[in-house]
Amino acid sequence: MSGTNISVSLIISTMTLTFATNNPHKLKEIRAVLAGLDDVPAIQSLADIGCSEEIPETAATLECNAFQKAAFIVERYGLDCFADDTGLEIEALDGRPGVFSARYAGEGCNFDDNIDKVLLELEGKSNRKAKFRTVICLILRGQTRYFEGGVQGEILPHRRGIDGFGYDPVFLPDRYQTTFAEMDLEEKNMISHRGEAIRKLVSFLRENQ
Ligand code: IMP
Repeated sequence: MSGTNISVSLIISTMTLTFATNNPHKLKEIRAVLAGLDDVPAIQSLADIGCSEEIPETAATLECNAFQKAAFIVERYGLDCFADDTGLEIEALDGRPGVFSARYAGEGCNFDDNIDKVLLELEGKSNRKAKFRTVICLILRGQTRYFEGGVQGEILPHRRGIDGFGYDPVFLPDRYQTTFAEMDLEEKNMISHRGEAIRKLVSFLRENQ
C-alpha cells in the first residue's frame, strides 16, 4: 500500500503546470503558497516556456480575461495552463477600475499612475470601501475550471509601504492595521484575493491528479 502512495506522489510531483504570467510578483506569491508541497505540479512561467508575446486581455469580465489568457497558451503551446485576472472594485466608483485595473490611467501607465488616478477620483468621498477580486482559470486536460478569491478593505488617502505591487500601498484590508505593501509575502497570501484563489486551485489539483 505504501509503495502505491510513493509512486503516485512521484508521478504528481514531476508534472508541470504553466502559469500564464510574467508578473514576478504573482509568481512569487504563488510559489510561496506552493513551497514545500510535493503533491502539486511544479509551476513554470511564460518566460520558462519561451513565450514573450503580449497575451490579449480584451474581455469585459475577470472570468473571460482569465480564460482568454489560459486558452491562448493551451492553443499555442499545447500545455496545461492556468491564468489569473484581478480587479480592484471600488464601491464609490461603481466598481471601477475593476477589469480595467491594469491600464486604468491609460495605455503605457504604471502602478503609480493608476494609484494617482484612483486617489484623485476618491478625493472628498467618505466611502472608501474596496474589494480585490481574483479569478483563476485552469485548463487541465481540456477541462476548464474557475477559482475565485476576494478580500474587502478600504483605499487609504496616501501610500503606505514598499512591498507588493499594483494598488497594494493604498489597500488596507478590513481588520488589519497594515496595507498589503507593508506586509510580507506570507502575510499577504494568508488573507489576499490571490492567496484564497490559489488555495482553491491547489485543493482541486490535489484531488484531481
Ligand atoms: P492583472 O490583469 O490580473 O494582472 O491585474 C490587473 C492590475 O490589478 C495589475 O496591473 C495591478 O495593478 C492590479 N493588481 C493585481 N493583483 C494585485 C495585487 O495583488 N495587489 C495590488 N494590485 C494588484
